Amino acid sequence: MTEPRFDQDVCIIGGGGHVGLPFALICADSGLRTVIYDVDSRKVQQIRAGEMPFVEEGAEEVLRRVLANGRLTVEDTTDPIRRCRLLVMIIGTPVDEHLNPSFSAIDRALRACWQHLRDGQTLILRSTVFPGTSQRIQRMLADAGLRIGVACCPERVAQGYSLREFRELPQLLSAFDAETRDAARGLFARFTRDFVEMEPMEAELCKLMTNAWRYIQFATVNQFYMLATSCGLDFDRILQGCRFNYPRMAGMPGPGLAAGPCLVKDTMQLGAFSHNHFMLGHSAMLVNEGLPSHLIELARREADLGRMKVGILGMAFKAESDDPRDSLAYKLRKLLALEAREVLCTDPYVCDPSLVPLEQVLAEADALFVATPHRVYRELPPIEGKLVIDVWSCLRRPAPAAAPAVSEPTTSPVTAGT
Ligand SMILES: NC(=O)c1ccc[n+]([C@@H]2O[C@H](COP(=O)([O-])OP(=O)(O)OC[C@H]3O[C@@H](n4cnc5c(N)ncnc54)[C@H](O)[C@@H]3O)[C@@H](O)[C@H]2O)c1
Repeated sequence: MTEPRFDQDVCIIGGGGHVGLPFALICADSGLRTVIYDVDSRKVQQIRAGEMPFVEEGAEEVLRRVLANGRLTVEDTTDPIRRCRLLVMIIGTPVDEHLNPSFSAIDRALRACWQHLRDGQTLILRSTVFPGTSQRIQRMLADAGLRIGVACCPERVAQGYSLREFRELPQLLSAFDAETRDAARGLFARFTRDFVEMEPMEAELCKLMTNAWRYIQFATVNQFYMLATSCGLDFDRILQGCRFNYPRMAGMPGPGLAAGPCLVKDTMQLGAFSHNHFMLGHSAMLVNEGLPSHLIELARREADLGRMKVGILGMAFKAESDDPRDSLAYKLRKLLALEAREVLCTDPYVCDPSLVPLEQVLAEADALFVATPHRVYRELPPIEGKLVIDVWSCLRRPAPAAAPAVSEPTTSPVTAGT
């Protein structure tokens, strides 16, 4: 049988997404003939027009360059797949409304591409997948008589900083045969030097455990925050005590609303994989998801929220991002709507018609909750005369009348200045 000829190097399936698009850009910018395939036609139009559909450091310039030099083409049909040697799948892999992994997304995507799959292609799974998915896909292809190698190389970049991190992070590398592993290595070796070789299921678990680990760390510190602030203590001062010149605590994160499109769902995938015996993961979810109501409870102790107009600063799931997916700011808004006279929300990046400008929130709100620690809030002058609930310690505090001694913490940072 003659080897098929491919006139394109790589197709990114789901290439209009938050991690797919930066990866497509870096491929095209390295000289590979790159095709984006994405079902979202609106995004496809936008990308073709040289506009990034979301905030991504340094990406717009690269996008314009690779469109102009013809290295990148952007499609909302599956036709170009048959012309590509490497297929990189990086579609969303959500959990369902019961927090169980949904297996259908990858299967649906694969079925849609099926008629264009050809012997000699390599399929690299880059989405975060339920353990065993790569093996299942590999069997599906083999059972259909397709000679397509399957690799599993999970993406680990931090959304918003992908172009930089692609080059800095080691690449997890796994496949079911040496030829496929070499093909995947050949792709990633264009951007990165370090590889960690493992078996496909090890790579799947490694990625899920990385996210679950971070989620549990955030939950731990959030629980400490709740313990301390429940009895009126200044958690910042405790955190400073834990970390200062004490290397064993150097990695301790600060408290904050921990959610977003990956951490919760990946922790829940691991929960499902363990047949719901992943106690730490489920406990972490209870703590992190409970933080918004704890913040409201702290405010309730200081003031009658029912009489107040309340402002939420930041709706994105993390700082300097425009992504509101699974942001706990929206949960906070929902809960506050039951308590307060009115809730005003603002965010400098998130595109949501229900949001209002920062100036309006600062002028009208009697109480402020910081939900996302965007830089612009760190740069505000100290807020006077309002109840402030700031779990991130992001806002500047008004100068205290008399600085309290370190050994006698008497003020709560989250209720500074009513
Ligand atoms: N967002 C992150 O920070 C991050 C980091 C590392 C890994 N991941 C993982 O990467 C994967 C993608 O995440 P994301 O945040 O980029 O999601 P996303 O929703 O931003 O992007 C997914 C893209 O896939 C497209 N798509 C969906 N179904 C498709 C199909 N059948 N065919 C073609 N295109 C399809 C969507 O239109 C979308 O543009 C997930 O598994 C996620 O867990 C995400």
